[in-house]
Amino acid sequence: MKNDITQVLHSQEDIENIISKLGAQISADYACKNPIIIGILKGSFVFMSDLVRKITIPCQLDFMVVSSYGNSSKSSGDVKILKDLDCDIQGRDIIIVEDILDSGATLGYVKSILEKRGVNSIEICTFLNKPARRTVEIYAKYSGFDIQDQFVVGYGLDYAEKYRNLPYVGILKPEIYVNN
Ligand code: IMP
Ligand code: MG
Repeated sequence: MKNDITQVLHSQEDIENIISKLGAQISADYACKNPIIIGILKGSFVFMSDLVRKITIPCQLDFMVVSSYGNSSKSSGDVKILKDLDCDIQGRDIIIVEDILDSGATLGYVKSILEKRGVNSIEICTFLNKPARRTVEIYAKYSGFDIQDQFVVGYGLDYAEKYRNLPYVGILKPEIYVNN
């Protein structure tokens, strides 16, 4: 796996530091609100598990499975919900947790669907943000690292279901995905 990476963009130490900050921010903003933290699977699972352990207030967790990429390195823009939430979110304060905000199509769609369920508030917490590729306008109140227009893997992010278990974020060698 390591040989497929051209550069480590964010080390385990960088990641731990930024997640501590995000956790502290969320804990301060949502004290007494018992927010529901919703992870978008599969990409967010590593980030979410580290993030919630830095959140010091009571909160509830749920997950959605959303698919938009297939095995390609570019979003099809065609978002599908493969597994919906288990819990009722009416009147609740929601934080959607995502691995990366790229075109914005996935989160734009998920947010619009959840908003229709009568939530009290809804915010986004993304681990990575690629602003250069945005086609759908969307605001993430909580964001780990801004990155350039490069395809990255690791720390939950995959290419064709591979590399999610790398403990850091690395740039994938373009020759690995160039024909996709
Ligand atoms: P969007 O709908 O274009 O914003 O794409 C969001 C989804 O695309 C993320 O949840 C990721 O699964 C995937 N994605 C976008 N950029 C990358 C990347 O650089 N590496 C791995 N997955 C990515
Ligand atoms: Mg993905």
